[in-house]
Amino acid sequence: MSVRIYVSRDATALALGAEATAHAIVAEADRRHIAIDLVRNGSRGLFWLEPLVEVETPAGRIAYGSVKAKDVADLFAAGFDRGGAHASRLGSIDDIPFFKNQERLTFARVGITDPLSVEDYRLHGGWRGLERALAMTPADIVSEVTESGLRGRGGAAFPAGIKWKTVLGTESAQKYIVCNADEGDSGTFSDRMLMEGDPLCLVEGMTIAGLAVGATRGYIYLRSEYPHAHRALETAIANAYAAGYLGANVRGSSRRFDLEVRLGAGAYICGEETSLLDSLEGKRGQVRFKPPLPAIKGLFGEPTVINNVITLASVPIILDKGAAFYKDYGIGRSLGTLPIQLAGNLKYTGLVEKAFGVTLRELLYDYGGGSYSGRPIRAVQVGGPLGAYMPESQFDTVLDYEAFAAIGAMVGHGGIVAFDDTVDMLEQARYAMEFCAVESCGKCTPCRIGSTRGVEVIDRIKAGIERDKNFLVLRDLCNTMRFGSLCALGGLTPDPVRSALDYFPEDFEVRA
Ligand SMILES: Cc1cc2nc3c(=O)[nH]c(=O)nc-3n(C[C@H](O)[C@H](O)[C@H](O)COP(=O)(O)O)c2cc1C
Ligand code: SF4
Repeated sequence: MSVRIYVSRDATALALGAEATAHAIVAEADRRHIAIDLVRNGSRGLFWLEPLVEVETPAGRIAYGSVKAKDVADLFAAGFDRGGAHASRLGSIDDIPFFKNQERLTFARVGITDPLSVEDYRLHGGWRGLERALAMTPADIVSEVTESGLRGRGGAAFPAGIKWKTVLGTESAQKYIVCNADEGDSGTFSDRMLMEGDPLCLVEGMTIAGLAVGATRGYIYLRSEYPHAHRALETAIANAYAAGYLGANVRGSSRRFDLEVRLGAGAYICGEETSLLDSLEGKRGQVRFKPPLPAIKGLFGEPTVINNVITLASVPIILDKGAAFYKDYGIGRSLGTLPIQLAGNLKYTGLVEKAFGVTLRELLYDYGGGSYSGRPIRAVQVGGPLGAYMPESQFDTVLDYEAFAAIGAMVGHGGIVAFDDTVDMLEQARYAMEFCAVESCGKCTPCRIGSTRGVEVIDRIKAGIERDKNFLVLRDLCNTMRFGSLCALGGLTPDPVRSALDYFPEDFEVRA
């Protein structure tokens, strides 16, 4: 009997040495004539414990972390292949509070299964949503998704069911499902983790979307800086074709769904849905005027569902367990769970999937463990580079799209970046304007010119030049960008700038 050992192939684990650890385990097991079955799984999302190694024992999976290649011989000497005692032995991951207190629906399999195995996916509840969808009418699938309350996880939180209904109701010989896997927001990595750790979940979600709206072809527009996700997706898609889950006759149903991956162009704006469509068509990614909506005239002018990775990966469990099960999680109009990404100056960074309703403070302290530096957390940016900076007085806000919007903040894609009290908020405001200037697609003036002027105005404030006048100009410029920009890049850049001015005015005072 061989011993099953799990070593993550997630990009974070690899960055921390997981590949060398895996090689060392194979070599040491060989030297000791111990038969092993090495599974390269996704990450459990407890980054400070990577490279995390788990061993299957009669008492369940026993974890060790973090395990470097140099520790491996010592671990075998301690009998780790039987769950033996060692300083790095953690016991069961399920008992670690960071993991235990999560509500993993979308990430239920990530870190547990072999990401590329169609059979392992099935053994862990995969394909059940698709099997059910195959027996339903398209309108019933759309109703189930609408009823679940699922809203887009890419940032704008638009109800997925309404988008799907529009595509279903638009007549066309060819429709498309496009997955937005550009994941450009700072501090976000849930799309990547899902695609590396459970790519078949995305394949299943997109196939269900295809059945729901009558689309026979899907594209995953993948961030080009994600080579590991790329490899995982390509292999998972090939395996799904070989097992009859993709292609001309999905599970013998005579229904077709083809899927392929296209690499992104490496610009933040290519994550905006209409720029993404231009880029996918082989053009330079530039924002399109709306209307027409992509749901009516999208990829190559045809009706297109465009959804984020996590939106689509949430669909299989909704179809499997039903809308009522899913919407039992969450609060208000923010239903279900959100894979939250903890990043920046935190002791414990990684992925936490929780139902909406958890507070920012719980995430920062109960999960994140407070700052990594040990200093007070002063500001938090939620929702990527266009999200407002939230001060300590707002840490009790619950994760809920409406509660965040009410205070001028945004949940976005669920990325949380924490800063301690050494942060310079004037520099952060300047960075927001500079980011916009660098990433602007150039189509509209408030964003293209305004962001560059914004950097100059902040520089003048910093240099003490006509400060009162320049504060007025900066506020005025923020208004122009907010109300005059064509898309949310120019329209939301004022949020981090204004929140820095409003909540951290002391950082804008004259410097010695
Ligand atoms: C500047 C900009 C960048 C964006 N980047 C992304 C991205 O990287 N990934 C994503 O899913 N959505 C991104 N969005 C949101 C998309 O435009 C769109 O709302 C999303 O793909 C719709 O899918 P959803 O409804 O499932 O969230 C971005 C929007 C803007 C304005
Ligand atoms: S706001 Fe900026 S990124 Fe958006 S369309 Fe205008 S120039 Fe392009």
